[in-house]
Amino acid sequence: APDIEVDRVLGHLTELESIAAAHGGNRAHGQPGYAASLDYIEGLLEEAGYETSRHAFTNAGITSWNLIATWPHAATDEVLMAGAHLDSVRSGAGVNDNGSGSAAVLEVALAVAGADLRPQKELRFGWWGAEELGMVGSRAYVASLGATERARFGEYLNFDMIGSPNAGYFVYDDDAAIAALFTDWFAARGIPTEPATAARNSSDHVPFRSAGIPVGGLFTGAGNTMTAAQAAQWNGTAGVAFDPCYHRACDTLDNIDQTALDLNTDALAHVLWELGS
Ligand code: PHE
Ligand code: CA
Ligand code: ZN
Ligand code: ZN
Ligand code: ZN
Repeated sequence: APDIEVDRVLGHLTELESIAAAHGGNRAHGQPGYAASLDYIEGLLEEAGYETSRHAFTNAGITSWNLIATWPHAATDEVLMAGAHLDSVRSGAGVNDNGSGSAAVLEVALAVAGADLRPQKELRFGWWGAEELGMVGSRAYVASLGATERARFGEYLNFDMIGSPNAGYFVYDDDAAIAALFTDWFAARGIPTEPATAARNSSDHVPFRSAGIPVGGLFTGAGNTMTAAQAAQWNGTAGVAFDPCYHRACDTLDNIDQTALDLNTDALAHVLWELGS
């Protein structure tokens, strides 16, 4: 897999922050900042040669959309999907939660196009709406898949908060083979990982797992406090939250650890290439 330039990921985060600022300060479900975020990502994918589609769903009378992009050059029928929720909470721009995962998935999708990859699997990318209201968009997407379509899915990879300012390196402990690909990548760089037990039931991989699809993903921590042992192994700050701005107005570009964002994005690219080709 190519090394992903973190400056490009940060460029997308700068854009998402500006989009929030220009649209009432957030990118939440049903708000103009969400629609503008969708437009931004969709435009870049289409320029790069993706087939994109908007998957509509409704929550409490408000219609929104997931964005789905497919790289139409697979040798087989099997699908490898990677996704991130694109909505923020109402209180702020949501740059770490979850501009970080959204921008990383976008930049890896653009790298697939840049490499003009001819993979074994169909590479599919998803940006979910209304995760913050209970994984509403991703649930609707999985529910919309027929049994035949669902059976095509080899894996789903999820990225929700991967640039936390006091970063931990957490790997979803769902599918053991997927987890090992991530864990070994970090270990080869001298970075210990821990199982993302806090994330087990708290993001968009849950509906995929419930449908019997093997899932994996990465997480750098939310509002929980980093322990002394974790601070020692990750050069972090003990007694402080992984993300002190979790769900707050201060979740801006200043709330991003660029090293964590870079490592997590490179790991995403590595695992996508490994599983996909
Ligand atoms: N899904 C949570 C959110 O978006 C973030 C989170 C992920 C929290 C993983 C805990 C574990 O707010
Ligand atoms: Ca990199
Ligand atoms: Zn606008
Ligand atoms: Zn959140
Ligand atoms: Zn989130």
